Amino acid sequence: MSDTRDTILARLNRADDAVSGDLLAAELGLSRAGIWKHIQALKNRGVQIESISGKGYRLVSDELSAAALTEAFRNRRIGHHCTVVDEIDSTNREMMRLAESGEQEGLILFARQQSGGRGRLGRSWHTAPGDALALSILLRPPLPPEIVPQLSLMTAVAVQQACARFAPQVRIKWPNDLLFNGAKIAGILTEMRGEPGRVHAVVIGIGINLRKPDGGWPDSINQKVGDLSSAGGRRIRQQDVAATLIEAFNDCYETFLREGFAPIRQLWWQNHAASGQKVRVHDGSGYIEGIAEALDSDGALLLRCGSERRRIIAGDLELLS
Ligand code: BTN
Repeated sequence: MSDTRDTILARLNRADDAVSGDLLAAELGLSRAGIWKHIQALKNRGVQIESISGKGYRLVSDELSAAALTEAFRNRRIGHHCTVVDEIDSTNREMMRLAESGEQEGLILFARQQSGGRGRLGRSWHTAPGDALALSILLRPPLPPEIVPQLSLMTAVAVQQACARFAPQVRIKWPNDLLFNGAKIAGILTEMRGEPGRVHAVVIGIGINLRKPDGGWPDSINQKVGDLSSAGGRRIRQQDVAATLIEAFNDCYETFLREGFAPIRQLWWQNHAASGQKVRVHDGSGYIEGIAEALDSDGALLLRCGSERRRIIAGDLELLS
């Protein structure tokens, strides 16, 4: 999207009511006809803008504005530069390309739609255009590769804290899914490039379902799936969730860099749906049942199975109680 169109979108997003064409023209140094052309271009790509006679333009649809996010987080570690694209294969894949071309920590890329969205354990991830957030964040932590699983868990805490602002009952499910009433509303995919002893880039991919798509969820999704607006009992706007998430992510990442994993692990455990509960985990080779007893510092789940304590490194967890 052109910078001018994004600036107009950010301005309309911020305003509680209509903004006059004269005011937009004066603020952007354009003619009223120039503003009108940009408004038409925005409408042509599906942004719902109402023209109210005698008052100006009012944003009806819920749109993400990269300019407004960049402005809000310009002095922060994460989100000082945000980009929104209409469609891409996968924001994670693109962010890794950007990382390899030398982009700085804190860059965020959002996509309205992904043609090849990727999930955990080689699965695909569906992004419902306009009804979901799909984003990737670039990190360059000055730390060894062993801490990368901790960054995934830290992200789960940040996403939980952000979602809980809209729906307080959102919980984490090991390792880093977000659930409401047993239905998955968000997922995280962390990817890394590095060498022994040094991380070059970590790409944190986050997908959040904001609304149930009009045609329902695709049949290919073979798990219980939910959305934040249903969880919160009201229509929740993309921009509000994006801004709340970036704020929470900044806070968690700053804490992690300053104090290490301990405070994050505590928050994770407090907000984990299955802490102390009976669970069943599929670890790729079979099912293991036990009580979720603790989270290890490398992200492994410690399961009490009778007299034995087992470490589960990866898998899918199901709550039994
Ligand atoms: C999962 O729970 O399986 C993880 C889902 C992660 C999806 C996000 S959407 C943005 C980013 N780009 C991708 O291709 N995947 C992640």
